Amino acid sequence: MTSSLEKVFEGTNASLALLQVLAENSFDSILVTDASAAGKIIYANKAFKKLTGHEPADVLGQTPRILQGPGTDKKVIDRLSGALKAGGRFEGKAINYKKNGTPLIMHWRVLPIKVGKKIMAWVAIQREG
Ligand SMILES: Cc1cc2nc3c(=O)[nH]c(=O)nc-3n(C[C@H](O)[C@H](O)[C@H](O)COP(=O)(O)O)c2cc1C
Repeated sequence: MTSSLEKVFEGTNASLALLQVLAENSFDSILVTDASAAGKIIYANKAFKKLTGHEPADVLGQTPRILQGPGTDKKVIDRLSGALKAGGRFEGKAINYKKNGTPLIMHWRVLPIKVGKKIMAWVAIQREG
Protein backbone atom coordinates (compact mmCIF):
# COMPACT_ATOMS: atom_id res chain seq x y z
CA MET A 1 0.00 0.00 0.00
CA THR A 2 1.35 3.42 -0.91
CA SER A 3 2.05 5.80 1.95
CA SER A 4 0.65 9.30 1.86
CA LEU A 5 0.99 12.36 4.05
CA GLU A 6 -2.51 11.73 5.39
CA LYS A 7 -1.70 8.16 6.37
CA VAL A 8 1.68 8.89 7.94
CA PHE A 9 0.37 11.81 10.02
CA GLU A 10 -3.14 10.54 10.77
CA GLY A 11 -4.21 11.06 14.38
CA THR A 12 -0.98 12.77 15.43
CA ASN A 13 0.19 16.31 16.01
CA ALA A 14 2.87 15.83 13.38
CA SER A 15 0.91 17.78 10.75
CA LEU A 16 1.60 21.05 12.55
CA ALA A 17 5.24 20.05 13.01
CA LEU A 18 5.49 19.37 9.27
CA LEU A 19 3.96 22.75 8.44
CA GLN A 20 6.29 24.53 10.87
CA VAL A 21 9.38 22.92 9.34
CA LEU A 22 8.18 23.84 5.84
CA ALA A 23 7.30 27.42 6.74
CA GLU A 24 10.39 28.12 8.86
CA ASN A 25 12.74 26.83 6.16
CA SER A 26 10.94 28.10 3.06
CA PHE A 27 12.99 30.28 0.70
CA ASP A 28 9.79 32.25 0.05
CA SER A 29 8.28 34.61 2.56
CA ILE A 30 5.17 33.23 4.26
CA LEU A 31 2.61 35.33 6.06
CA VAL A 32 -0.55 34.07 7.78
CA THR A 33 -3.36 36.39 8.83
CA ASP A 34 -6.49 35.67 10.83
CA ALA A 35 -9.84 35.60 9.02
CA SER A 36 -11.07 38.97 10.37
CA ALA A 37 -11.87 41.77 7.95
CA ALA A 38 -8.74 43.59 9.13
CA GLY A 39 -6.57 40.53 8.44
CA LYS A 40 -4.19 40.66 11.41
CA ILE A 41 -0.86 38.86 11.02
CA ILE A 42 -0.61 35.74 13.19
CA TYR A 43 2.57 34.28 11.66
CA ALA A 44 5.54 35.44 9.59
CA ASN A 45 8.60 33.33 8.74
CA LYS A 46 12.30 34.15 8.60
CA ALA A 47 12.18 34.73 4.84
CA PHE A 48 9.62 37.50 5.51
CA LYS A 49 12.27 39.24 7.62
CA LYS A 50 14.83 38.79 4.82
CA LEU A 51 12.40 40.16 2.21
CA THR A 52 10.93 43.10 4.13
CA GLY A 53 13.29 43.84 7.02
CA HIS A 54 10.43 43.45 9.50
CA GLU A 55 11.04 41.20 12.49
CA PRO A 56 8.25 38.57 12.60
CA ALA A 57 7.57 39.29 16.30
CA ASP A 58 7.06 42.99 15.53
CA VAL A 59 4.38 42.46 12.85
CA LEU A 60 2.13 40.12 14.84
CA GLY A 61 -1.23 41.85 15.28
CA GLN A 62 -0.53 44.30 12.45
CA THR A 63 -1.89 43.94 8.89
CA PRO A 64 0.11 43.38 5.67
CA ARG A 65 -0.91 46.93 4.73
CA ILE A 66 2.30 48.02 6.49
CA LEU A 67 4.05 46.90 3.28
CA GLN A 68 2.15 49.40 1.13
CA GLY A 69 3.01 52.98 0.26
CA PRO A 70 2.58 55.74 -2.32
CA GLY A 71 3.67 53.59 -5.28
CA THR A 72 1.38 50.65 -4.49
CA ASP A 73 -1.10 50.10 -7.33
CA LYS A 74 -4.58 50.58 -5.88
CA LYS A 75 -6.12 48.49 -8.68
CA VAL A 76 -4.13 45.43 -7.58
CA ILE A 77 -5.18 45.96 -3.95
CA ASP A 78 -8.84 46.38 -5.00
CA ARG A 79 -8.58 43.08 -6.89
CA LEU A 80 -7.14 41.45 -3.76
CA SER A 81 -9.92 42.89 -1.59
CA GLY A 82 -12.50 41.49 -4.03
CA ALA A 83 -10.88 38.05 -3.88
CA LEU A 84 -10.85 38.12 -0.06
CA LYS A 85 -14.53 39.11 0.08
CA ALA A 86 -15.41 36.32 -2.35
CA GLY A 87 -13.39 33.80 -0.31
CA GLY A 88 -11.20 33.10 -3.30
CA ARG A 89 -7.52 33.18 -4.18
CA PHE A 90 -5.37 36.03 -5.42
CA GLU A 91 -2.09 36.36 -7.28
CA GLY A 92 -0.50 39.64 -8.26
CA LYS A 93 2.41 42.06 -8.24
CA ALA A 94 2.63 45.52 -6.76
CA ILE A 95 5.19 47.90 -5.33
CA ASN A 96 5.67 47.34 -1.61
CA TYR A 97 8.18 48.84 0.79
CA LYS A 98 10.72 47.35 3.15
CA LYS A 99 10.89 48.56 6.73
CA ASN A 100 13.69 50.99 5.75
CA GLY A 101 11.53 52.44 2.94
CA THR A 102 13.27 50.68 0.02
CA PRO A 103 10.68 49.80 -2.64
CA LEU A 104 10.42 46.27 -4.02
CA ILE A 105 8.16 44.55 -6.51
CA MET A 106 6.16 42.11 -4.41
CA HIS A 107 4.86 39.05 -6.23
CA TRP A 108 2.46 37.23 -4.00
CA ARG A 109 -0.41 34.78 -3.69
CA VAL A 110 -3.12 34.78 -1.06
CA LEU A 111 -5.13 31.64 -0.32
CA PRO A 112 -7.89 30.86 2.15
CA ILE A 113 -7.41 28.09 4.75
CA LYS A 114 -10.83 26.49 5.06
CA VAL A 115 -12.28 23.97 7.46
CA GLY A 116 -15.42 22.86 5.67
CA LYS A 117 -16.80 26.11 4.32
CA LYS A 118 -15.46 28.29 7.10
CA ILE A 119 -12.37 30.40 6.41
CA MET A 120 -10.04 30.07 9.41
CA ALA A 121 -7.10 32.10 8.12
CA TRP A 122 -5.38 33.46 5.02
CA VAL A 123 -1.92 32.46 3.85
CA ALA A 124 0.33 34.51 1.61
CA ILE A 125 3.40 33.30 -0.24
CA GLN A 126 5.60 36.22 -1.23
CA ARG A 127 8.79 36.85 -3.17
CA GLU A 128 10.50 39.70 -4.93
CA GLY A 129 9.67 39.67 -8.59
C1 LIG B 1 -2.60 36.86 3.92
C2 LIG B 1 -2.53 38.26 3.34
C3 LIG B 1 -1.32 38.73 2.84
C4 LIG B 1 -1.21 40.00 2.28
N1 LIG B 1 -0.01 40.40 1.80
C5 LIG B 1 0.10 41.61 1.23
C6 LIG B 1 1.36 42.02 0.66
O1 LIG B 1 2.34 41.31 0.64
N2 LIG B 1 1.41 43.24 0.09
C7 LIG B 1 0.32 44.06 0.03
O2 LIG B 1 0.45 45.16 -0.52
N3 LIG B 1 -0.87 43.71 0.55
C8 LIG B 1 -1.00 42.50 1.15
N4 LIG B 1 -2.21 42.12 1.69
C9 LIG B 1 -3.38 43.04 1.55
C10 LIG B 1 -3.70 43.92 2.75
O3 LIG B 1 -3.52 43.27 3.97
C11 LIG B 1 -5.19 44.35 2.67
O4 LIG B 1 -6.02 43.22 2.63
C12 LIG B 1 -5.47 45.19 1.46
O5 LIG B 1 -4.68 46.36 1.55
C13 LIG B 1 -6.97 45.56 1.33
O6 LIG B 1 -7.42 46.22 2.43
P1 LIG B 1 -7.58 47.84 2.44
O7 LIG B 1 -8.42 48.19 1.26
O8 LIG B 1 -8.21 48.13 3.77
O9 LIG B 1 -6.18 48.41 2.33
C14 LIG B 1 -2.35 40.85 2.24
C15 LIG B 1 -3.56 40.37 2.75
C16 LIG B 1 -3.66 39.11 3.28
C17 LIG B 1 -4.99 38.62 3.81
